[in-house]
Amino acid sequence: MKLTQNTFICLIIKIAILCFGFNRITANTPPQKDLLNPKELRVEYLENPMGITVLSPRFSWLLEGNGRNRTQSAYQILVSSSKKKLEEDQGDTWDSGKVSSHNTNQVVYAGDDLISNTDYYWKVKIWDESNQESEWSEPAHWSMGLLNFSDWQGQFISHDVGYDTTDKYDSLYLPPARYLRKSFQITKKIKRATVYSTALGLYELRLNGEKVGDDYFAPGWTDYDERLYYQTYDITHSIKQGDNAIGAVIADGWYAGYIGYALLVRLDKVREFYGVNPSFMGQLHIQYEDGTEEVLATDSTWKSNEGPVREADILMGEKYDARLEHSGWDTPGYDDQGWKTPKVYTYPDGKLEAHPGSLIKNIERLRPVKMTEPEPGTYIFDLGKNFAGIAELKVEGPAGTEVRLRFGEILKQDGNIQTENLRLARATDTYILKGEGVEVWQPKFTYHGFQYVEVTGYPGKPILDAITGIVLSSIKTDASTFKTSNEMNNTLYENIKTTQEANFFDIPTDCPQRDERLGWTGDAQTYMRSATYNADVASFMTKFLVDLDDAQRWYGAYPNFAPFPYSRPDQYSPAWMDAGIIIPYNMYKVYNDKRILEFMYNGMEKFMEFQADASTNFIRPGGGNNWGDWLAVDEETSKGYIGASFYGYDAKLMAEIAEVLGRKQDAQKYRDLFENIKKAFSEKYILPDGRTTEDTQTTYALALYFDLFPENLEEKGAARLAEKIEKNSFKFSSGFLGTKHVMLALSKYGYHDLAYKLFKQTEYPSWGYSVENGSTSIWERWNSYTKNDGENSDLNAKMNSFSHYAFGSVAEWMFLHAAGIGTEDGGYRNIRIKPDISKEVDFINGSYKSINGTITSSWKWQGNKVIMTVNIPVNTKAKVHIPIENISDLREGNKKIAKVPSIKVVTTNEKEAILEIGSGTYSFSFKYAP
Ligand code: BGC
Repeated sequence: MKLTQNTFICLIIKIAILCFGFNRITANTPPQKDLLNPKELRVEYLENPMGITVLSPRFSWLLEGNGRNRTQSAYQILVSSSKKKLEEDQGDTWDSGKVSSHNTNQVVYAGDDLISNTDYYWKVKIWDESNQESEWSEPAHWSMGLLNFSDWQGQFISHDVGYDTTDKYDSLYLPPARYLRKSFQITKKIKRATVYSTALGLYELRLNGEKVGDDYFAPGWTDYDERLYYQTYDITHSIKQGDNAIGAVIADGWYAGYIGYALLVRLDKVREFYGVNPSFMGQLHIQYEDGTEEVLATDSTWKSNEGPVREADILMGEKYDARLEHSGWDTPGYDDQGWKTPKVYTYPDGKLEAHPGSLIKNIERLRPVKMTEPEPGTYIFDLGKNFAGIAELKVEGPAGTEVRLRFGEILKQDGNIQTENLRLARATDTYILKGEGVEVWQPKFTYHGFQYVEVTGYPGKPILDAITGIVLSSIKTDASTFKTSNEMNNTLYENIKTTQEANFFDIPTDCPQRDERLGWTGDAQTYMRSATYNADVASFMTKFLVDLDDAQRWYGAYPNFAPFPYSRPDQYSPAWMDAGIIIPYNMYKVYNDKRILEFMYNGMEKFMEFQADASTNFIRPGGGNNWGDWLAVDEETSKGYIGASFYGYDAKLMAEIAEVLGRKQDAQKYRDLFENIKKAFSEKYILPDGRTTEDTQTTYALALYFDLFPENLEEKGAARLAEKIEKNSFKFSSGFLGTKHVMLALSKYGYHDLAYKLFKQTEYPSWGYSVENGSTSIWERWNSYTKNDGENSDLNAKMNSFSHYAFGSVAEWMFLHAAGIGTEDGGYRNIRIKPDISKEVDFINGSYKSINGTITSSWKWQGNKVIMTVNIPVNTKAKVHIPIENISDLREGNKKIAKVPSIKVVTTNEKEAILEIGSGTYSFSFKYAP
């Protein structure tokens, strides 16, 4: 190359910079790597949470940085009582000092006692593998809520709307919402103002004309006699000098309204499971600049009234008469002379705590894709996908005009909505116009599962924007990405996520549309691992496990659903009650959460005792309300088999849980129990030729996946499962319990092509069948609907939801096996990358944001070679399983493996090589050995 004068000058400058750079470091220091930087700081899984009640909160952060094999060798956390102190690096509440540790999550606070109603500020810095110190992270904060019952000065207040004592079975009782308000004056400069609020029922808090916070359905659903959650909001900047007004609207909600199928099956109660009258409690803590403090709490000096919300029920819908609005009722200066003195209630025995999960939010707004008019004056808005939430109505017309909204998941052939599957959920919202220009309305205390909104009574012909879909959910499914060459499967993945969002609604509900919407435990346990791949469900599931623990039956069984509002005693079932072990186990696996295992442990032991008592010779019988392999088609697995196999699985998981918690003796006890169950189980259900006595897909899938096959017969059992699937033209005959385990068992025993064939199948029964039928969600049943019969297939339309996540449990297989992203221990610090390679697809691209950072695993065919790209986050390691016969055929980039110092070959055999890698991006190419 010819050097021009300019390039020569540049070169000199570069050399000078380099020399200068080296001089600044000492002569012997190796060149500096990029610093690792802690980011995304969280406390108890939440970003800057307000008002927590966990006394030793857990911290976590993620690390960002380039290069391979980057790790954290130490950290330091500072917690300060003020922003200023934190800026000055004064950890006056806690200075952890430099702690030699790889941990970036589940780091337990160990400073001064945390004080009620107090803000804390924190930051973290880390040292990397070469002991290079990072910068301090961006500051984060959290606040402690009211920690003692005695901190509560407020009373539960409500408005007396009378009580309708008539029959509740044949006509609906839907009392109006209650309005509560209070004016107050602020005359001094405010430093900090916080409001703590809750309700027995549902509430929306208002301050100076605005909604406080962005939560829906607060305070969430618990068994209210066990515990009640409250919310904390920072209102420092919403309070004004001079006059202010605070208010709340409250409604029956889960506390007093219709819940589940009670009305349908005419239980002893159909509503008011926890109490009759909803009530609200709140208090405002104001700290002034001058150091004084003031508390303004709910009491009988507040004022109460009815208002425009005439009916408000989760299942039945909401009715709003805008003519009855109290204009300005939640703003200062409103004259509340006509309002009444509220009724005061007590909340006797339960616990008041901060909501540990994630509250419901509006996660998306949907513009209709189409409007049709199947009958004159009946307008159907298509919102493009089946979700849970409400419709916002925009309308202009004469006062008194009544617009009615009804909701449906599918359309009948005549273009009208199908509502039969809502059963007794009336799911109807009504808006009565006040006639003052454009009116925009959203209900507050009801929600529906729908894609279509039927609008009747609209004044004139609505435009498309008359309806907006308000998608509500406790979670966002943004933790993963998945793409493959088969487009149907990409749609399936979207449908799974849509259905998870629709049902992760304070609790994991079975469905969002009909009169059910309960936290069915069988659905939740089967879907748990899938849920974690799609979304960060750590705090959501923590909340649900508290519900489950609260709802555990006194005799040890976990119930069919939690919370458990009904008074029926025998509500448990094999594979449903096992949620009490399977969900916490997965919390450990995915989030490295041992605290939840400790919290649940006594209950789990009690449950194991209950099962032991119910068993004869280690075989747990069917028992309870056993649904077997619910919604299986063509083949039936006995209820006894389901009961016995899940008992074995529980024992296996309990042994691991006890080990993780350092309870060695218990671990041995459960290992022994597992061996005993396995022996009894195989004697009873497994024949000498490796077949099961019942020979259904589900029987093989469960026993193989749960390790209940005798070692010498498992290959035969797996081969029989494969043979059955082939004979069944690569289609399922399994239900809620069997299906995902069929996929997992096939992968476990190397039947990858078969698993992909099932995954890609489009003929009934398969996932593809619903996608081909235009579904945007996961159906309750394999054949919920067919294109040829819009009225439904041969099934009872009333027991047919189009938004049930249980069959979406294939997401677990998609990530664990198709993309191959798994964890060896708790929390993806020791990652396992083991994709199932098959000619059935051209490529799989997967990524998953774990508690230790984002892991990606992609593979594709290039001729007869496979290219595999893996990215492992900082501070983690991975064992990568490469299906290859000869290690010398394996390349990373364009180098032979032996030439890549950052890769360690752990083992090789004639089927695979296992490599150990640290953080960084790797690209492998090899010839596949099936
Ligand atoms: C629910 C299911 C649930 C089941 C128990 C149904 O009504 O929708 O998802 O698990 O009952 O069989």
